[in-house]
Formats: sequence, C-alpha cells, structure tokens
Amino acid sequence: MVATRTIVVTGVAGFIGSSLAERLLEGGDRVIGVDNFDPFYARAAKELNLRRALSHEHFTFLESDLREPGLVERVRAAAGAGADIVVHLAAKAGVRPSIAAPLAYVEANVTATAATLELARKLNIDRFVFGSSSSVYGNAASPPFKESEVNLVPISPYAASKRAAEILCDNWARVFGMRCVSLRFFTVVGERQRPDLALHAFTRAIVDGRTIQVFGDGSMRRDFTYVGDILNGLVSSLDFVGTMPRGTHEIINLGGHASATVLELIHAIERALSREARLEFVPRPPGDVELTFADISKAQRLLGFAPQVSLTEAAQRFANWYLQGGVTP
Ligand SMILES: NC(=O)c1ccc[n+]([C@@H]2O[C@H](COP(=O)([O-])OP(=O)(O)OC[C@H]3O[C@@H](n4cnc5c(N)ncnc54)[C@H](O)[C@@H]3O)[C@@H](O)[C@H]2O)c1
Repeated sequence: MVATRTIVVTGVAGFIGSSLAERLLEGGDRVIGVDNFDPFYARAAKELNLRRALSHEHFTFLESDLREPGLVERVRAAAGAGADIVVHLAAKAGVRPSIAAPLAYVEANVTATAATLELARKLNIDRFVFGSSSSVYGNAASPPFKESEVNLVPISPYAASKRAAEILCDNWARVFGMRCVSLRFFTVVGERQRPDLALHAFTRAIVDGRTIQVFGDGSMRRDFTYVGDILNGLVSSLDFVGTMPRGTHEIINLGGHASATVLELIHAIERALSREARLEFVPRPPGDVELTFADISKAQRLLGFAPQVSLTEAAQRFANWYLQGGVTP
C-alpha cells in the first residue's frame, strides 16, 4: 500500500498515541513516532503498546526526548519527502503527581511543546494538532464547559502546563503562520489506559481483592470519553486543520457529553468484572476538580464528532483487555 500522508506523532508509546498510530497506519498513513519512555509508568507497558505499530512497514519509531536538539534531523531523515502534520500527544500526564514535581511538568509539557512547535516549523510543517486537557477549565467554569469560557483557573501544575501549551500553540500560529488545533480531551477511558487513571487502578484493585480508596464521598463527576471516540475526533481534526487559514488556532472539546460520578464508574467496573468492590472513603487531595462536563457542539460542527461508546461498554472493553494481560487483540 502506498502511504498518503506522513504524520509525526509524539508520545507514540503512550495510551492515546499508540492507539492513534495504529488507526493512522490502518488508514494508509505513514507514521513517524517519537517517545522518550518517560518513567511516569513502566517502559514495558509502553513497549507492549507499540508492538503492533512496530510490525507495520509504514511506521518509524524514534526514541528521543522532544527537547533533544538532534531530533529535527532524525525526523527529517525518516520523513524523506517531508511530513505533513504533527500530532503532539507527549506529556507528563496526571494531576496529583504534578503537585509533587511541578518543574518536571513545566519541562515536559511546556518546554517540550515549544520544542515540538519549533520542530514542526523547521520541517516546514504548518499543521499542528495538540492534545490538551479538560483540566484547564478548573473549578470556576460553568458546566457544560464551552471553548469560549474565559474563566479558566487551572488548579494544578499539570492543568496550568496544558493551558500554557495551548497559549504557545496560539502564539506559534499567530507569529509563525502555523495552523494549530488544541483538542481538550475529557477523561479518556478504554484499552491501554494509563495505570494511574481511575478505571485502570480500580479494575486492578478489584481483581487483586484490594480495597479502593475513594476520594471524598465519590460524588466527583467526570465526563468519561472512550478512546475510540477520541481517535475519531483526532482523525477528523487532521483533515480539519488543513482547511484552516494560516495563522489561526482552534480549541475544541472532545468529551463523551455524559458525566458520571466516581461511584458510578466503580459500579460499571463491578458489572464488567462480575465482582464487588471494597471501598474506603478518604479525604480528597488538592488538585482534582469537582466536575468535568463537555459541551461538544463545536466538535460536532467542525469535526462531525459524535461519541458512540458508553461508560458501561468502555469499562467492559477495558476489563476484557486487562484480563487478557494488557495485550490488544
Ligand atoms: N488520558 C487522558 O484521560 C487524558 C485527558 C486529557 C488530556 N490528555 C493528554 O493526552 C496526551 C496523551 O495522554 P496519555 O493518557 O496517552 O498519556 P501517556 O503518559 O500514556 O502518553 C504520553 C507519552 O508521552 C511520552 N513523553 C512524555 N514526555 C516526553 C518528552 N519530553 N519527549 C518525548 N516523549 C515524551 C511518554 O513517555 C508517554 O509515552 C497527553 O498530552 C495528556 O496530557 C490525556
């Protein structure tokens, strides 16, 4: 098969990046993936994520930090005739760990985003899609969260770093004539999900017979979004970004548009595993927002985005993946 586009995907060994790489390769694109195997979680899990992509003839993997000055030449060499789009998904993710190590988050999420925008510019790639986060809305925005919200008060270094990275995208568009899309992902769930996230951590605890620590009274609400739906939005955004005028930046929510409590998530996992959870209620740590809930009308209008998979179904698909040893069938 002759590849149609060449797409650079950063964070390609991660949960969303590896899933996107496979989707693009299946669709006939060529993918140059970059990842530094950040130790936030096990390298072995990321190598497993990459296994299928690595067997594809149109996939090139570059192990590198995005801040590495020699990376531009390595991507140029891999791209041959040039690359068309950068999808920047690399980050140190996670709200609570960012409170323990804020500078590491600024380095990985802000400095590395500027380095990736520069990489795109040096390679004459003007289409740039960035994986931002619903956490930028903080606790002050009124639900459902709209992209036009001005009352953005991030309450963790992670959230602040994602908002800072959006502003860099906006600036590189204005100053350097790029076209940038920042997609605000709302809690992504499904196969390969990061081990620190609630669906994964709670499933592991129930399977191991351990007690789950629930923050507060379990009434925190999240707009859980299935990873396959996020991929649909990402793939549409790659076409959309090419239709945007040069020098512009769009922010677009990608959410499931259905918000559920932490206790409802636990019940969905119990049903998926046919096992009951043991719960311990503990005080809520700082940094976690009370609620996330996406207004997805802009994504519907610009990307034809329509989430399909419910939390119940996502929990079942995750459980199947987990019980098979974390190997994607
Ligand atoms: N998973 C979610 O629910 C969620 C929600 C909102 C936003 N996001 C964002 O989506 C993106 C992907 O998230 P994920 O859940 O797949 O996370 P992930 O941790 O699984 O993947 C991120 C990848 O980036 C790599 N990385 C980190 N710093 C790097 C650097 N300096 N150079 C090269 N590679 C680097 C890591 O090794 C990792 O493999 C992130 O930007 C995250 O902030 C995720």
